[in-house]
Amino acid sequence: MSQNEVLCRCLNVTRQEVEQAIDVFAASTEKEVGRLTEAGTGCMCCRRCIRDLIRERQQQSAVLRTA
Ligand code: FES
Repeated sequence: MSQNEVLCRCLNVTRQEVEQAIDVFAASTEKEVGRLTEAGTGCMCCRRCIRDLIRERQQQSAVLRTA
């Protein structure tokens, strides 16, 4: 999935915008991502992708902290 790929089609939110919410603003739940970007606040079918992305970014962050 590329950075500019739309992750939430309802609200036209890109993967990059969701990653910024997680990395820069420390969003750690789908609700927090939704408050910051509106992703996942429509039909909610993208929430699993958002949850997976949160988990992925948190794991990467943990690896960087221990390196
Ligand atoms: S695709 Fe994200 S809320 Fe519908």
